[in-house]
Amino acid sequence: MKQITRNFSISIIAVLLLSVILTACSQEKTSDLTKANLIPKPVLIESAGGFFTLTEHTNIYIQDENQELIRIGQYLSDKLSPATGFKTKVLSSGKKPKSDYIFLSLNNDTKLGNEAYELYITKKGVVLEANKPEGLFRGVQTIRQLLPEKVEMKTLQPGPWEIATGKITDYPTYGYRSAMLDVVRHFFDVDDVKYYIDLLATYKINTLHLHLSDDQGWRIEIKSWPELTKIGGSTEVGGGEGGFFTQEQYKEIVHYADERYITIIPEIDMPGHTNAALASYAELNCDGKKKELYTGTDVGFSTLCTKKEITYQFIDDVIRELSAMTTGDYIHIGGDESHSTPIEDYIPFILKVQDIVESHGKKVMGWDEIAHTQLKPNTIVEYWAIKENALKAIEQDAKIIMAPGHKMYLDMQYDSTTPLGLHWAGYVSVKDAYNWDTDTLVPGITKKDIIGLESPLWTETITNLDELEYMVFPRIIGHAEIGWTPANQRNWDEYEERLRKHTKRLEAMGINYYRWYDIQKENETK
Ligand code: ACM
Repeated sequence: MKQITRNFSISIIAVLLLSVILTACSQEKTSDLTKANLIPKPVLIESAGGFFTLTEHTNIYIQDENQELIRIGQYLSDKLSPATGFKTKVLSSGKKPKSDYIFLSLNNDTKLGNEAYELYITKKGVVLEANKPEGLFRGVQTIRQLLPEKVEMKTLQPGPWEIATGKITDYPTYGYRSAMLDVVRHFFDVDDVKYYIDLLATYKINTLHLHLSDDQGWRIEIKSWPELTKIGGSTEVGGGEGGFFTQEQYKEIVHYADERYITIIPEIDMPGHTNAALASYAELNCDGKKKELYTGTDVGFSTLCTKKEITYQFIDDVIRELSAMTTGDYIHIGGDESHSTPIEDYIPFILKVQDIVESHGKKVMGWDEIAHTQLKPNTIVEYWAIKENALKAIEQDAKIIMAPGHKMYLDMQYDSTTPLGLHWAGYVSVKDAYNWDTDTLVPGITKKDIIGLESPLWTETITNLDELEYMVFPRIIGHAEIGWTPANQRNWDEYEERLRKHTKRLEAMGINYYRWYDIQKENETK
């Protein structure tokens, strides 16, 4: 009798344990679509309580013979194949079949904007609809995140590949959701930039601002001024060999980004941050003498000679060649920290440069200091440091990009123990990066003034992709959500839960993210 009771107790414990394990598993694999672990969080999710399973029979179908949609379908197929082992075909059948489909189609529904998409997931298949291809591309990122994390791995993984059924309706809060990469202080080559573009695309970021010139280097070939890259491109912070993009390489980056619905905004910083140009050409200096190359990290010591006519010939040539390779509307002219340019020279300089940019069919972006001058009607001001500058821009009816250093600079240390980065704008924890709203941060900068936000990564202390990932992830994911998800649907505690779960996906992607929350340790102590 005793033995029976004992066996009975063991059985009960076994059943309880099994149910705990099953509950734990079913938290990972829920049929409730509203519980899907998505970042950025979609605007609207409705659950239908079942599962669609991606199998070797599933194919991607395109509504018409539309090359752009076929390319998007192929992008998805390429993302799925390493881990699933499926050779998911992209077929332009015109109609969706009865089952086993991911169907991409344009619905000509303009009301939610160009990046909006709708996903209908049934047991038979997935329909992704959007007004524009870019909306489909954003929706494809959601499909990736709806699949188990291991779909991101580069090696074959066991299924099943299930997605909860239901409907997602989604569109961004801001049209400008950007990252900035400084390829000057340390050079990042074409493959590095493409790799970063792919990461940005995953989080529905739609702009990459490339900081292409500074005191320590000139990183873009300008055929009419070849010494810029020959001399100015030859070094970087710490004295490394630097590097530059040929025009062919730059076009390759722009094309790669365009195919991911990411616009490249090139920056030529001026009149300060120009030592590399001043070291390349004597005539750009007021005293007619070349500067020495510079590999330190000071700022504010260099300036183009704003009174010389050749300076404007130089800028015109650079902007002309750059504009011809740039598919986006904007050229960023920097304008920050020009401490060596007297304000009475700075103001007419920025006025002239705005004219030059417009004469080449582009619009101007600049750091917040450019608001000291009269802004052209389309000029956009990037608020990074001085709120009075942003307010001056708003007085002139200019639109603002939010990039406040103490919330958005990805080169700021997380805390005082972070081995990389700086802290002149403060420490920026994962929570600091997420837990704020663009339109209440600065009194006077309101929603109607803001076109979006940008996460800059300056690279004084960042020398390779591993270090880049450590500083960027996971803070940029929070920024991506601020840019996409309505503020009233965001909440730090709920987000942190989601982000903690999302670290499994970061691990599957092989991202060297900053472990703000040591999940492994928590699991070990359980
Ligand atoms: C800046 O960080 N100097 C724009």
